[in-house]
Amino acid sequence: MSRTSRPTDDRPLPPLYAMTHGGIESTAADEITRDLGGEVKKTARGLVVFRTDKLTDDVLKMRTTEDVFLLAWGSNSLTYTSEDLDTIKTWTARKPDWDRLFKLHHKIRPKTKGRPTYHIVCQMQGEHGFRRADARAAFIAGLAGKIPHGWQYSNENAWLEIWLTIYSKTAVCGVRLSDRTMRHRTYKLDHVAASLRPTVAAAMVRYAGIGPGMTILDPMCGAGTIMAESLMVANERSKAGRIRVIGGDIDPNAVFVTSQNLEKLGQADLARWDARALPLESNSVDRIISNPPFGKQLSSLEQVMPLYEATAAEWDRVLRPGGRAVLLAMEQEGLKRILLEKGWIPARSSRVRLLGQLCVMSVWNKPG
Ligand SMILES: C[S@@+](CC[C@H](N)C(=O)[O-])C[C@H]1O[C@@H](n2cnc3c(N)ncnc32)[C@H](O)[C@@H]1O
Repeated sequence: MSRTSRPTDDRPLPPLYAMTHGGIESTAADEITRDLGGEVKKTARGLVVFRTDKLTDDVLKMRTTEDVFLLAWGSNSLTYTSEDLDTIKTWTARKPDWDRLFKLHHKIRPKTKGRPTYHIVCQMQGEHGFRRADARAAFIAGLAGKIPHGWQYSNENAWLEIWLTIYSKTAVCGVRLSDRTMRHRTYKLDHVAASLRPTVAAAMVRYAGIGPGMTILDPMCGAGTIMAESLMVANERSKAGRIRVIGGDIDPNAVFVTSQNLEKLGQADLARWDARALPLESNSVDRIISNPPFGKQLSSLEQVMPLYEATAAEWDRVLRPGGRAVLLAMEQEGLKRILLEKGWIPARSSRVRLLGQLCVMSVWNKPG
C-alpha cells in the first residue's frame, strides 16, 4: 500500500513575539538575535516581535523573556474608544490562519493524553474607553468557529492558550508557546522578600558577559537568583575553563534558601557573610552582579547610603582591574556618585520597575 505524503508547508513562518519584564527588552532582543538567530522586527515596552527561519524548542530556552508566542495579529494604533472592540473582533476572526498557528504550536508542544484543552487570556493595561471584560467578549466573539470541535475549555494547565494583550495603544494576539517554567524556572523552590525575577537576573548576567575561567560574585545573594542564572551560563561555558560562582548574604535564612535553590544547578561557593567585610582576596573576582537592598527594605535612606559606601569599598577591593560590575539599585544617584569617586566607568544603564519601584540596572567597568 502506498502512502501519500502530505504537501510540505514552505510558507514563511508567522512572526513570533516575546513578552519581557519592562526595561529588559533590548537585552531580550540581543538574546533573540545572537543566541536564537532570530531577526527582531519591533521592540516596544515589554514586547519584542521577531522572526526565525525555523521553529524549534530553542525558543523555549531563552532566559530573558517571560513568554513566547506565535503572532496572530498585532496593532499599535488602538484608539482607546469602543471602536477598538470591533477591531479586536474582526481582526481575530479574519487576520490569522488559526489552523496553521495551532499546528505550529503542536510542533513545539506535542499533544498530551486525553481531550485537548485550551484557555483564553485577555490582559489589559492603561486607560481605555471599554472594560477588560468587553475586550475579552470581543476577542471570544472573534474566535467563534476557530477552535476545533472536541477541544475543551479549561482554566488550569490547558494545553493551548490564546492570548490578547492590550497595553496603551498596542495590542498583540497570539498562541502561547512557553509555559510558566520560562518565567519562573524550575530551580526556584523557595523565595525571600525582594527576590528578583529570574528573567531580570538573567539580563544582569547577560550584561556581565561571563566567560571561561572567570570568578563571579554576588555579595548579597538573597534567594540566589543571580547565582542560579550565573551557574546556568557557567554550566554551558565552563568546558573552555571553569567558571566559579560565589555568593553570600548576611541573613542565614537567605543563605539556606539559596542553597536549596542551587541544589540541582551545580557547584557554587556559598557563605554567610557581611558584604562590608568580604572574606575574599583583593583583585580576585572578574564580575560582580548584585542587587543591594532598597531604601524601602531598610528603615530609611540614611541607612542605605552608609551600606552602599561600605559595600562599594569592598567591591572595589575584590574586583580585579578591568573587571565589570552589574548593579540593580533604586538609589541610583547615590550609588553613581560613590562609584564615580572610585574611578569606575559607567558603560550602560536601563530603567527597570521592581516591586512597583523604579530602579536602574547599570553596568560599570573598573579601569584596568
Ligand atoms: C534585594 S535583596 C537581594 C535579592 C536577590 N538578588 C534575589 O534575587 O533573591 C538584598 C539582600 O541583601 C542582603 N543584605 C543586606 N545587608 C547585607 C550585608 N551587609 N551583607 C550581606 N548581605 C546583606 C539582604 O539580606 C537581602 O537578602
